Amino acid sequence: MRDIISSLDFSKEDFLTIFSLADEVEKGKKLKLQEEKVVATAFFEPSTRTHLSFTTAALKLGAKTIGFSSTEGISEAKGENFADTIRMLENYSDCIIIRHKFDGAAKFASEISNKPIINAGDGKHEHPTQTLIDIYTVYKSFGSPDNLTYGILGDLKYARTVNSLLRGLTRFKPRFVYLISPEPLKARKEILSELNYPYKEIDSPSEVISEIDVLYVTRIQKERFPDEMEYEKVKESYTVDENLVNQMKKDSIILHPLPRVNEIDRRIDSKPQAKYFYQASLGVPIRMSLLYKILSGEW
Ligand code: CP
Repeated sequence: MRDIISSLDFSKEDFLTIFSLADEVEKGKKLKLQEEKVVATAFFEPSTRTHLSFTTAALKLGAKTIGFSSTEGISEAKGENFADTIRMLENYSDCIIIRHKFDGAAKFASEISNKPIINAGDGKHEHPTQTLIDIYTVYKSFGSPDNLTYGILGDLKYARTVNSLLRGLTRFKPRFVYLISPEPLKARKEILSELNYPYKEIDSPSEVISEIDVLYVTRIQKERFPDEMEYEKVKESYTVDENLVNQMKKDSIILHPLPRVNEIDRRIDSKPQAKYFYQASLGVPIRMSLLYKILSGEW
């Protein structure tokens, strides 16, 4: 009966347990639930990867799925409140995967539901299962997330994947983390105050790009800006292009939680460093492993 609200809900041992199980799944292990289970996907906000990879993961485990991918088809459109919607999903399912535009929505749901809640992204707060995928991709590429130099580039203020990644990395030992963003998109102070590894905030990747092992890029989260004029000022303020990638180490990697807009030039997709589509493919074995642990009662 474990909720997953933040990447801090995973200990280092939890991360390594999920990575090890996902590795076995990738090598062909048949992971099946012994009892019939129903997984509810409650997506109040749009999603391609998270929704579909969680659904695929549940089906592969032998679970049934119910859910929705917008509020148009549910009774919220008739005025039903969020708490009552969660109570209904609690009645019908064994686990609720929730995405919502409001920070704290998953935590609030966990206070209402006696069934496990998995946060699939709440506002600008967190997206912890994306962090499992992100750090697993690093683990697969380098053997360990430790002793590497990370560059986190983009919208560090509103990107929930960045908050979760920065918190998740506190469970490991990064050599150094460069936080690279224009001034209006700098990481929030409350996140920085939690970091237990060396980091530096800089404006541009150009001076440090040759040191970086893992370049993690995010899009500018247009939908989170309270003022569209503020978005207009920063849009297109950074792009990962051939010139930048040509300065990277040969064995470095570029990650992106996706969706991408224009912050990575399409021509980078064929470079050996481009691992973002591979990263997205790892969503299924990682989410199978997590759902298995939760639905089997091991967690
Ligand atoms: N990475 C991610 O959360 O993608 P979706 O918004 O498509 O789920």
